[in-house]
Amino acid sequence: MQKKDYTVTENRLIAADTYRLVLSGEGPVEGEFVHLEIPGYFLRRPFSVCETSQDGLTLLYKTVGEGTRALANLPVGTTLSVVSGLGKGFSADACRENALLVAGGLGAAPLYLLAKELKAQGKHITAILGFNKADELVLQKEFEALCDQVAITTLDGSVGIKGFVTDALKSLQPEYDYFYTCGPMVMMKAVCDMLSGPGEASLEERMGCGAGFCYGCSIQTTNGPRRVCHDGPVFKKEEILW
Ligand SMILES: Cc1cc2nc3c(=O)[nH]c(=O)nc-3n(C[C@H](O)[C@H](O)[C@H](O)COP(=O)(O)OP(=O)(O)OC[C@H]3O[C@@H](n4cnc5c(N)ncnc54)[C@H](O)[C@@H]3O)c2cc1C
Ligand code: FES
Repeated sequence: MQKKDYTVTENRLIAADTYRLVLSGEGPVEGEFVHLEIPGYFLRRPFSVCETSQDGLTLLYKTVGEGTRALANLPVGTTLSVVSGLGKGFSADACRENALLVAGGLGAAPLYLLAKELKAQGKHITAILGFNKADELVLQKEFEALCDQVAITTLDGSVGIKGFVTDALKSLQPEYDYFYTCGPMVMMKAVCDMLSGPGEASLEERMGCGAGFCYGCSIQTTNGPRRVCHDGPVFKKEEILW
């Protein structure tokens, strides 16, 4: 775990209420998520790492409350304090050959980081990316560049398959030996219920310290209580008590 200052080099609206934040400083960043200090807010906010580079990292975030709205107003050149090296991420090695990635909304961000790792390992990847409507779509081209197959679903049918990611799973019946999912809890539960094969899901909880000290993000699992920030956020399907 390390705390460093980074400079905002891009903070741009890329989809409905969705921003791409590029931070420059020292990279590449370790860990599954970072804890950002937003000026004026006492508690840091957790965001998944979407991409890392030699001199920093990229995050995608949605404006859902005061903190993220304040983040969206920060101009290029702002210095932000970033705690990185947090969380246990997806285990790319668990997949032998065929990986299935199922994302809901910005759940696509950490799965994109994973897709790069899987691709570097020579694995075949099928990605299903679900959104409410066309103007929320992110990372389609980026996934297409890495994956053997990419399916988009939207609830209103404005792009791709109309319906939920589970509708795409039903119709496509993708071949996989390990799956990875990230998105709203209700979506991940439906995916885990539907897929009989092994896999893992990245959970979201409100966080205090983000580093395992305050127990504010504790959940019950089949292995007893676990801290999402420290023992997760990625958990194996069979560990999760929905
Ligand atoms: C490990 C992890 C990775 C995350 N990655 C991303 C990401 O890549 N992109 C992104 O946009 N968001 C991500 N989030 C969620 C993000 O941290 C929250 O949206 C953000 O903290 C909200 O701050 P706020 O001040 O705008 O909202 P607040 O004013 O604090 O809350 C506004 C609304 O958002 C909900 N909310 C706040 N924090 C969380 C949370 N941690 N989980 C679920 N709901 C929350 C609240 O219940 C409330 O309904 C992640 C959360 C976790 C735990
Ligand atoms: S947020 Fe403090 S232990 Fe997880």
